[in-house]
Amino acid sequence: MSAALIDGKAFAAGLRARIAERVPAFREAAGRAPGLAVVLVGEDPASAVYVRSKGKQTREAGMESFEHKLPADADQATLLALVEQLNADPAVDGILVQLPLPAHIDADEVLLRIDPDKDVDGFHPVNAGRLATGLPGFVPCTPLGCLMLLEDRLGDLSGLDAVVIGRSNIVGKPMAALLTAKSCTVTLAHSRTHNLPHYLRHADIVVAAVGRPHFVKGEWLKPGATVIDVGINRTENGLTGDVDFDSAASVAGAITPVPGGVGPMTIAVLLRNTLVAAHRREG
Ligand code: GUN
Repeated sequence: MSAALIDGKAFAAGLRARIAERVPAFREAAGRAPGLAVVLVGEDPASAVYVRSKGKQTREAGMESFEHKLPADADQATLLALVEQLNADPAVDGILVQLPLPAHIDADEVLLRIDPDKDVDGFHPVNAGRLATGLPGFVPCTPLGCLMLLEDRLGDLSGLDAVVIGRSNIVGKPMAALLTAKSCTVTLAHSRTHNLPHYLRHADIVVAAVGRPHFVKGEWLKPGATVIDVGINRTENGLTGDVDFDSAASVAGAITPVPGGVGPMTIAVLLRNTLVAAHRREG
């Protein structure tokens, strides 16, 4: 292995510490703590773990955590009524409805109902449109965390060739928009791309978010590339990313491990978005 390891765990801890330092000034000015509401429907074990760590890290940053748990068979109307209640609650700055939602729930309708100015996940189409057009809004936490790691490693990204693999609304599309806004030349590839190695050969930056273990091979990479692996795939051998780590680490200049790379950034950026939301609402 010759690549440097990008330590997302340490970067996220530093970001959370910087956020925690800024919370007392908000409390002083507003007479209350920034508040994040998290809604969990059902018992999905991975979601329950995420929600518990969100609550813990929110409180550790000095913010208020409001946790709402609904049973797996809760209906659409109940969930929409809860979202409306949180939209109207002055103590709530940010609202996050944990995905995935049970199959009988129309997730798009739920996300559309969240007040875009409390949408700290950045999933509302209004915020996707703001990102696409360069207006201030909320950016999804995982891609924003990836951008922070890239800028920390590379400084100015202007003019670099970037390939994003994966076109989800949660990671791939906003990642491509963020890199475009930073003046990268961006290729948005995905599982159906013909000849992915052709695009990767010139890529200074690779962000893999395609949800397939070991999908990106080291021999496809440009020597010295910076590789961000967003994949969290549960396999028989434990957690693994979308990048074939061992082969990639012998070619790349820097690479994120899984776990300990991108994963810890998501909640840290969520806290950052919540503090931003709180300041904008008190503005
Ligand atoms: N499920 C997995 N990651 C996320 C996230 O960042 N936000 C929400 N709402 N659900 C998720």
